[in-house]
Amino acid sequence: MTSVNDIRSNFLDYFKAAEHEHVSSAPLVPRNDPTLMFTNAGMVQFKNVFTGLESRPYSRAVTSQKCVRAGGKHNDLDNVGFTARHLTFFEMLGNFSFGDYFKERAIELAWGLVTGDFGLAKDKLLVTVYSEDEEAAALWKRIAGLSDDKIIRIPTSDNFWSMGDTGPCGPCSEIFYDHGDAYWGGPPGTPEEDGDRFIEIWNLVFMQFDQIAEGNRVNLPRPSIDTGMGLERISSVLQGTNNVFETDMFRALVEAAAEATHTATGGDGLTSLRVIADHLRSMSFLIAEGVLPSNEGRGYVLRRIMRRAMRHATLLGTAEPVIHKLVPALVMEMGQAYPELRQTEDTVTETIKIEEERFLKTLSRGLSILEDESAGLGEGDVLAGETAFKLYDTYGFPLDLTEDALRTRGVTVDHAGFDAAMAAQKAEARKSWSGSGEAATDTVWYGIADKTGATEFLGYETEEAQGQVLTLVREGAEVESLAAGQEGFVILNQTPFYGESGGQVGDTGEMSGDGVRIEVLDTTKQAGGVFAHRVKVTEGSVAAGDALTLKVDHTRRTAIRSNHSATHLLHEALREVLGSHVAQKGSLVAPDRLRFDFSHNKPVSEEELARIVSMANEIVAQNAPVETRLMAVDDAIEAGAMALFGEKYGDEVRVVSMGRAVRGNAAGRTYSMELCGGTHVGRTGDIGLITLVSEGAVSAGVRRIEALTADGARAYLAGQDAELRAIAGALKVAPRDALSRVEALVEERRQLERQLADARQKLALGGGGEGDAVAEINGVKFMGRVVSDLPAKELRGLVDQGKKKIGSGIVVNVLKDADKATIAVGVTEDLTERFDAVALVRAGVEALGGKGGGGRPDMAQGGGSEPGKADDAIAAVRALVEAG
Ligand code: ALA
Repeated sequence: MTSVNDIRSNFLDYFKAAEHEHVSSAPLVPRNDPTLMFTNAGMVQFKNVFTGLESRPYSRAVTSQKCVRAGGKHNDLDNVGFTARHLTFFEMLGNFSFGDYFKERAIELAWGLVTGDFGLAKDKLLVTVYSEDEEAAALWKRIAGLSDDKIIRIPTSDNFWSMGDTGPCGPCSEIFYDHGDAYWGGPPGTPEEDGDRFIEIWNLVFMQFDQIAEGNRVNLPRPSIDTGMGLERISSVLQGTNNVFETDMFRALVEAAAEATHTATGGDGLTSLRVIADHLRSMSFLIAEGVLPSNEGRGYVLRRIMRRAMRHATLLGTAEPVIHKLVPALVMEMGQAYPELRQTEDTVTETIKIEEERFLKTLSRGLSILEDESAGLGEGDVLAGETAFKLYDTYGFPLDLTEDALRTRGVTVDHAGFDAAMAAQKAEARKSWSGSGEAATDTVWYGIADKTGATEFLGYETEEAQGQVLTLVREGAEVESLAAGQEGFVILNQTPFYGESGGQVGDTGEMSGDGVRIEVLDTTKQAGGVFAHRVKVTEGSVAAGDALTLKVDHTRRTAIRSNHSATHLLHEALREVLGSHVAQKGSLVAPDRLRFDFSHNKPVSEEELARIVSMANEIVAQNAPVETRLMAVDDAIEAGAMALFGEKYGDEVRVVSMGRAVRGNAAGRTYSMELCGGTHVGRTGDIGLITLVSEGAVSAGVRRIEALTADGARAYLAGQDAELRAIAGALKVAPRDALSRVEALVEERRQLERQLADARQKLALGGGGEGDAVAEINGVKFMGRVVSDLPAKELRGLVDQGKKKIGSGIVVNVLKDADKATIAVGVTEDLTERFDAVALVRAGVEALGGKGGGGRPDMAQGGGSEPGKADDAIAAVRALVEAG
C-alpha cells in the first residue's frame, strides 16, 4: 500500500519533473488576506501573483498546503467524526501556472497523474465542467478519451470557483472517483450527489478573471491555473477505502489515541477517537505557528477545537490529560513533511497539556450541569441560551461543544438567548474598562470597542500582515475616511502593530493600499483592547472597509524586542546579585534604550553592577530560545513566574521564559520567567550585548538603571573606547596605561601645589612690612605683618606658622590685594583665656572698612574693601592687645 507520505511525495515529484517550482506551504494564518481566518486552499499564497500585483521568479509551482477549515466561512468543525471525509485540518496538493500553461496542459498533467502514477482505472473516473465551458469539455474528450456521459456539465457556482467575494476566479473542472455501488450516492448534478459513492478528488480551476467587486469582473493579465486535490481523499481512494480516517496516517493517529485512552478502535468510541485524531492535527499545526488558545479570534477557534477534542477524550472515560501525549505520534507521521512540527514539538505538547489541565478542572462539573439542565429534553427540543451561556462563561464550554454534546440526542441550543446573555455580560464588563479620564475621548473608544470588539494582535508572529479598516477617528469622533494630509486613528480587525503596554512603547511603521499611503506614528490600546493606530495619511485616502497592507518598522521593533528581553535578564540578574527584595517598580522599553526601576534602598556598587551585567550577558551568550507559553495566572505564579504585585492580570497570561541558570541552587533551571505580553527576541543571542549606562536613585528606596543592547550597546562602547584612546593620546601613553598615568599626575599635582604654597608663604614673609618684627606688648608677644601675592586660603597657614615661631603670643596677618584686604588673627592656646581672636579680628576688619569677621578664639578671619588701611588694621588689633 502506498502511504499518505508517499502519495504527497509522488504528487510533488510528478510536477517537479514537469518543471514546477516546489514552494513550501504558506502559514495557516494568512499574511496576505485580511478577511481570511485560516488558509483554506493552496492558491491563497499566490493570490496576488494571479492578479499581477506580485511577481515570482517562476511561472509554475507545486505545493502541499496546510489548510484549516474551522471558524470563519468554511467551518467543518461540527461535522468531523460524523462523516467519512470532513476534517478541520487537511493538506491540499496543487499545481499552479501563472500565465504559463492553461486548460489543455492542465488537463493533460492531471489526467497523466491520476491514470499514470496513481494508476486509477479510467472507467472509475468522471469529470464535471462549467456548463458554458465547451472548450474544457472538448479537451477532456480529446485528451482523456472520456465518453460524453462521463463529462458532466454543471451550470452552478459549484463549477465556477472563487476564493471569496473578490479576487481571482474562473470556471473549474472537477475529477470524481466512483467508489462503486457498494456505496449509496449518485453522480454530480443528480439529487443523490451528496452520497459517498461519487467523490471529488481534484479540482482544476481555470483562473481567468479578477472579481474586483460585485458585478465588476475583469480579465486576469494572463490566464492561469490553480488546482486542488485533498491529500487525505486521494489517499483513501488509493488505499482502497472511501473514508479518510481509514488511511494509514489516520489509522496511526487513531491507534495512538486508542492506546492513550485505553479504548478499543472497533467499538462505540471510534467517532471520538477520530475527532481526537483530526483535532490533534489542527491544534498542533496552529500552535506550531504560534497561535495560542485564547478567547478572541483565531485563538478562540483553536480553543474550541482543543476543548472539543478534550470532551471526546472524557467521553472515552479518561479523567487525566491525554491529548498532549499524542503529539509524538503526529510528529512521527508528519514531521518529515512539516519540519516546523518537529521544531516545536515541546511547545506544542506543553501548550496542549496546560489547556487540558485547565479545562479538566471545570469540564466534569460543567458536564454534570449540562446533564441536569437537559435531563428532560429530547429530539427537537431546545436548551435555554442562558444555560449554554453559563456553561460558556463559568465552565469554559464553547457553544459548539455544548451543541456537540447534545447532538446525538437531537437537542439544539437557543442561539438568540445565548447571544443576549453574552451581550448583557459585555455591558457589565464595559463598566470596568479603564479610560484616559477624558470623558469625550473615552466615549468614542467605548463605542468603538462595543461595536468592533478587541483587535486581534498578530504581532507576536509577524511584522507584516493585511488588515481591514473597521473604522476611523479624527478629532475625537468617528469619521468615514481620512484624506492625504490628515491625522487621525485607524482601527483594524487585526494588526501586527504592538499597542503600548507593559512599559513597551507602541509600534510605528506604515500602511498602504490601493493608492493610499499612511504613516503610523504610534499605536496604543484603548478600551477593551481596541488597537488605535495614530496615523498621518501621506497619499490618497482611506475609508472603512478598505484592506491595507500593514508593515511594522522592522529595525525599530527589532531594537525594542532586544531591549525588552534584556530587561527580563537584568531583572533576574538584579535579584540574583542584590537579593529577592528587588521588585520591578517601573519599566520603559524603547527602541533606543531600556529603563528599569526597582526597589532597593542603597546605591548599587560598581562591583555589583559589573556582576549584574556580566550575568545577564552570560544568558545572552547562551543563545537560548525565548519561549512563550499561555498559562492560568495561578499556575504561572506557582511555577515561579515573576508577576507584578498589584497588577491586574486576566485569568490567562503569557509567560515568557529564557535561559538556564548556571550557578547556585537554581543551576539548570529556567533563568528568567515572567508574565509578559510584550514582544521578544527569538533567541537570547539576538540581544547581542547588554551594557549599563547609568544607575541612580529615583525616590526613597527606588533605584533606576538604564541600559543599551545590540547596536546601541556596541555604538556606546565604541564611543567610550574612542574617548579612552583620545585621553591616552593626550597623555602620550598606551590606553592601558592611561589610568596609572592619570593617578600619577594627580599625585604629582598635589605635591606641586603643596610646594608652591610653601614657596609663596616664604616669599610673602620675606616681603617685609610694618610690624614685621615681634614686639612685646603688655607682656604678650605680638607679631603683625602685611603680606601680598598670596592666595587668601593660605593666609591662615601663614598665621599658624607665625604662632609656632613665637610659641606664645598673638599673630596678625593682613593680605593686601588690589581692591580688598583679608585679615587673620591667631592667639596661641595659652592666651585664649585673655584674648579672643574673634574680637581682635573684628577690630581689624572695621579698620579695613569691612564688617564682622569670625572663627574660633584661637583663629579668626575677616576682610574689608580698603587694602590701603592694612597697617591701620594691625594697629587697631595692637591697640586692643595693649588695652589688655
Ligand atoms: N482553489 C481550488 C479549491 O480550493 C483549487 O478547490
